[in-house]
Amino acid sequence: MRLFSLTWAFALATLAIAAPSITRRSNLVVHEKRAQEPRDWVLTRRLEPSAVLPMRFGLTQSNLHKVEEMLMSVSHPSSPTYGQHFTAKEIVDTFAPSTDTIERVVEWLTDSGIDRSRLKLSKSKGWIEVDATVEEAETLINAEYHVYTHPETGAQQIGCHSYSVPEDIREHIDLIKPTVHFLHRVPTPNQLRKRSFERPSTHIKQGPKLKADTSPLATVPQDLSTCDEEITLDCLRALYSIDYTPVSTDTNTFGILEFTPQAFLQSDLDMFFANFSPSQVGTAPILISIDGGVDQTDDTGFDFNGESDLDLQYAFGLTNPQPILLLQTGDLVEGASFDNWLDAVDASFCTFEGGDDPTQDGIYPDPLPGGFNGPASCGILTPPFVTSTSYGQDEASVTAAYAQRQCTEYAKLGMLGTTVLYSSGDDGVAGGGGVCLDGNGQPARRGGVQFNPDFPVTCPFVTGVGATQINPGSTVNDPEGACEQVIFSGGGFSNFFEMPDYQATAVTSFLTNHPPPFTGEQFNNSGVARGFPDLSANGLVHVLRCSVAGEFELVFGTSCSSPVVGSMITLINDARIAAGKGPVGFINPAIYTDEFQAAFNDITTGGNQGCGTPGFTATEGWDPVTGVGTPNLSKLMPLFLALP
Ligand SMILES: *[C@@H]1O[C@H](CO)[C@@H](O)[C@H](O)[C@H]1NC(C)=O
Ligand SMILES: *[C@@H]1O[C@H](CO)[C@@H](O)[C@H](O)[C@H]1NC(C)=O
Repeated sequence: MRLFSLTWAFALATLAIAAPSITRRSNLVVHEKRAQEPRDWVLTRRLEPSAVLPMRFGLTQSNLHKVEEMLMSVSHPSSPTYGQHFTAKEIVDTFAPSTDTIERVVEWLTDSGIDRSRLKLSKSKGWIEVDATVEEAETLINAEYHVYTHPETGAQQIGCHSYSVPEDIREHIDLIKPTVHFLHRVPTPNQLRKRSFERPSTHIKQGPKLKADTSPLATVPQDLSTCDEEITLDCLRALYSIDYTPVSTDTNTFGILEFTPQAFLQSDLDMFFANFSPSQVGTAPILISIDGGVDQTDDTGFDFNGESDLDLQYAFGLTNPQPILLLQTGDLVEGASFDNWLDAVDASFCTFEGGDDPTQDGIYPDPLPGGFNGPASCGILTPPFVTSTSYGQDEASVTAAYAQRQCTEYAKLGMLGTTVLYSSGDDGVAGGGGVCLDGNGQPARRGGVQFNPDFPVTCPFVTGVGATQINPGSTVNDPEGACEQVIFSGGGFSNFFEMPDYQATAVTSFLTNHPPPFTGEQFNNSGVARGFPDLSANGLVHVLRCSVAGEFELVFGTSCSSPVVGSMITLINDARIAAGKGPVGFINPAIYTDEFQAAFNDITTGGNQGCGTPGFTATEGWDPVTGVGTPNLSKLMPLFLALP
């Protein structure tokens, strides 16, 4: 059993504390409900009333209503304070939970019969802790705790289906643990390592996809004549007018995020460089180890190296000679998720609103044999000016509160001046593995009709990157279409997040002028939901790996698109730094303006099929397949350079 279970095993073994009677407040309202019902786990029994739970009450941050306004003030081109990013301290001070919030929650707990001496306030003031019996907790938050067992491994975990808090306290509570946050994956690390297609966090999926029906390419393309079949660095430079050599590499920073055991092979990088960028042979990324992250070489093959090789080969190749920071996250035993790298770039996030979620994130230090002993990587790194991440999970696999908490953190990174890029998914309007949702928003084994958007890309404070292709038979001088070979660009509308102002005109225009042939059963068609992706880039590249006999492999995915866009933003930042300016930070408010949209190649063909439908269709202007289009760097750079 992994940490999650160990923690509870410890808690459950503790003898019951004498439980004073707890009274339940009358005005309870449901605060959170489980996102997804357990599938491979069997409900075994009610948890004993006397067992002790380490209850943690995550407190709401102050000034949350100001997040968007503050972010816009430094990232909207028409804002007089554009580019004047906030300091980390300003951000922590602005959002720490207020004294009022702390007192209101304490008052609720003590009024209900929990003695004040049992309550502990975390150092960050982000959460209140109390060891409570199951009986106390069940009364307090109107929940029923059950034990769930995984039949094949015997692993156990506990949880409740939903829980409630008093109506007047709701605004002060972000989330409560342990409650509805259910670990769906099976917690046996050794098994997981052997299953080559799975990663420790099975919620998180990764591209790219390998094209199954072609043999590896025999020759290295030397010119632009075969760009429709094999994208090279030169094809990308021609497509997006990339013609700039960085000069500010001492100051500029570009981070590529990878989750262990995904790892790059230096020999693969070198072979790629030897063919496409000879001066870079021997160049390696700067490894930033987050929570025991290692560039492992024990397991190799496409599933272990494909993503990392690809991300680094294209990021290095397009931004040469910019050094690349490799944010290698998670140890070999437990792995990690998005919150873990956010902890690394923001110490206050480590404990914020209750800290990491054991059902989604790696918990560090890792007490499992061979795991990373810690300390957890909190605030070990200044966020790079650009981070590119080609991983995602289904939005439906997390709770709204979890997604919101993480999304707010992305806004803070934007306020600090970081561009956060996420790939938009490779399954069109469907979720990972082509799964769609049933009428209750639950993953349907088959025949689900509701579209299943990706997360974190639906967070309005990240930049979502979709995938395009050079249509077969076309050249770099012809318009690209949405990617329709092997993968389909993830795109659509969030079921959690509202449409941000910056995209209102573009999204409304799409829905009005090109109404999709779907109803509210398929997607949130209210016209006020966040649409994604924001922009796109070619998603059909090839990667060179000597581990498969030194041959090229064609790979497909928005995985390819995100580092390509990241490279272009990095070049823009370089030019701005050279001109005595700061990085661009959050780019969405800029790229949706009319002025900036003119710097994009609008993609008007192709779609993102899924869930038994053709999906949305790329069309004039923004669309939920390719966003505002692909960048033309020679037009985009001067626009960003002209901003303060
Ligand atoms: C659609 O999205 C909006 C904005 O997020 C939300 O207020 C509304 O409840 C959603 N509608 C449905 C049916 O989920
Ligand atoms: C990109 O912009 C340049 C002008 O700066 C133009 O010459 C070129 O044709 C554009 N590329 C595309 C694909 O539109």
